[in-house]
Amino acid sequence: MKIFARATVAGGLLAAAFLVPAHAQDAKPEDAVKYREGVMSVIGGHTGNFFSILQGKVPHKDALAYNADALAAASKQVKAAFAQNTSGSGVKTEAKDAIWAAGSDFSKQADDFEKAAVALASAVQAGDQAAIGAAAKGVGASCKGCHDKFKD
Ligand code: HEC
Repeated sequence: MKIFARATVAGGLLAAAFLVPAHAQDAKPEDAVKYREGVMSVIGGHTGNFFSILQGKVPHKDALAYNADALAAASKQVKAAFAQNTSGSGVKTEAKDAIWAAGSDFSKQADDFEKAAVALASAVQAGDQAAIGAAAKGVGASCKGCHDKFKD
């Protein structure tokens, strides 16, 4: 019976919603790590595909804006995704403990990355080739800058 099945699914989702902890800090370390790696994988996928299109390796020119917009949206998730300190949890991760150390500029690097990704999406929307090239370099530099310092 379809209606019954739907009601059951809705009930299940509602029950699941009550199980979600109120604070991000309450996540199990392995779930927190999996989540932020998911955010980074999405960023990696869109960046890789963006450059493949830009360099003419694949013919999906009409998907350039999609990848730039999705990258800009995902860039806004980085800070929140790394908010939970998982150092000392024993969970396998490539994130360095320095991210959560006093005086860490991780948050600033995440902000700079966000600005670079938003600038790239704007340049693509404007169709300005020179600006796209410059902004793409900026994005690449912010990935590398953060990884060099905060990723094993
Ligand atoms: C503000 C810091 C920061 C910026 C900016 C950043 N990353 Fe990361 N990235 C990390 C850290 C830290 C990890 C390790 C996460 C972990 O293992 O828990 C990571 C992991 C990854 C991973 C591996 C994900 C996995 O499944 O383990 C990929 C791919 C990646 N980043 C791509 C990128 C790309 C591409 C960019 C730029 C467009 C970028 N990152 C920008 C900090 C950053």
